[in-house]
Amino acid sequence: MSILPRMPAFDSSLALLSEGYAFISNRCERLGRDVFATRLLLQPTLCLRGAAAVELFYREERFSRVDAAPWQLRKTLFGDGGVQGLDGAAHRQRKTLFIEITRPARVEALIARVEQEWRSRLRLWQARDQIILLDELHRLYARAVCDWAGVRLAEDEEGRRCAELVALIEGAGSVGLAHLAARRARRRLEFWLGGQIEQAREQPPPAGSALELVAAHRDGDGVLLSPRVAAVELLNVLRPTVAVARFSTFAALALYKQPAWRERLRADPAARVPFAQEVRRFYAFFPFTAARVRETFEWQGVTFPRGTRVLLDLYGTNRDPRSWERPEVFDPMRFLAEQEPEAAFVPQGGGDVVLGHRCPGEGIALELMSSALRLLLQDMTYQVPTQDLRIDLARMPMRPASGLILSQVQQVQRTRSPVS
Ligand code: HEM
Repeated sequence: MSILPRMPAFDSSLALLSEGYAFISNRCERLGRDVFATRLLLQPTLCLRGAAAVELFYREERFSRVDAAPWQLRKTLFGDGGVQGLDGAAHRQRKTLFIEITRPARVEALIARVEQEWRSRLRLWQARDQIILLDELHRLYARAVCDWAGVRLAEDEEGRRCAELVALIEGAGSVGLAHLAARRARRRLEFWLGGQIEQAREQPPPAGSALELVAAHRDGDGVLLSPRVAAVELLNVLRPTVAVARFSTFAALALYKQPAWRERLRADPAARVPFAQEVRRFYAFFPFTAARVRETFEWQGVTFPRGTRVLLDLYGTNRDPRSWERPEVFDPMRFLAEQEPEAAFVPQGGGDVVLGHRCPGEGIALELMSSALRLLLQDMTYQVPTQDLRIDLARMPMRPASGLILSQVQQVQRTRSPVS
């Protein structure tokens, strides 16, 4: 029987805020264990890391998602009543909505809309001395995803709605004013989208759009979602798509830091997906994901008491040296061989996407990143001036400090290839 390592501090919330993404792995390394007990936000919490922990964490009979995420995240990032907090049959029925919205043909249409928007903004970027790529991609993705989803977004409210979507993302891991701004943004966005859901039920929006699918979705009891919960689910599509701006910015950063890969990706477009996978492994968005123990059980000699919150370390598992050779090195070669991704590859969660809580947006994230790589490499030229590119692990979600400034942006003029 092994003894469960416990952190001596009464509550580790301040340590979590100061160590950020490294909080769980720092302790796992120190203790030489993949599981330890602590107290976070005044609640007893078990922290897990590594491939074996992923396998455990996604066993539905062991863990529930009801009331699993801290309320600070429910009031900002996720909202109340959404798919993240459901279990069993109710969860599977709601999840069908997201599987439908993220079908490959729909993702293709989203990418086409994003690329059209990117090209039209490229003309504006040329006229400016410099742009902050992360900010531009937030706006670009927000405009494109709203159009694609059938959500009406007037030109004069574009800036405000985009700022609200970004506030949800930026405020999620914050305390103080940023947290309050995120809560206010959620209230406003839910009100706005709730109105669009009600209208969509009277006057159908474009057929097959996310707005139409969410408005028409029925839970297992055959009842339509309330406008507020439908708004939460619509936001569950809009918000994370805008959040992919971070991954695309990290892809641009990785291109800048890896000149040899710039040449390789130009010559071999098929290498874009492995490159994007390595960006998702190496950089990060969510540090961990949360569940609660259904019934008391033992794992690796440790008791998991019923109702305890459990955190699975996504960042640390993506960098666990037992699963990844030289994890601190950015190396897309590790994804070049065509094989099933590692169980320890969990940038957007693990397990089964249809049956479990794995993110349904991995296709969207990968395709948006691949498209960003293509546009950055083939459709434009730019310089990366001296700037602060440091990434602070205590800032969640992480970002390069400057947001990645690009200067002297020029559109590449294409000469028509001769018609054969
Ligand atoms: C920056 C890119 C993204 C990251 C890092 C990300 C990450 C994640 C993570 C870690 C989870 C939780 C997994 C778990 O708890 O087991 C999740 C769930 C989810 N994601 Fe994403 N995601 C991204 C993009 C997207 C996109 C584009 C969509 C659009 C459809 C999306 C929709 C969702 C939904 C609806 C859930 C809840 C699934 C469930 O509870 O069954 N995500 N995501």
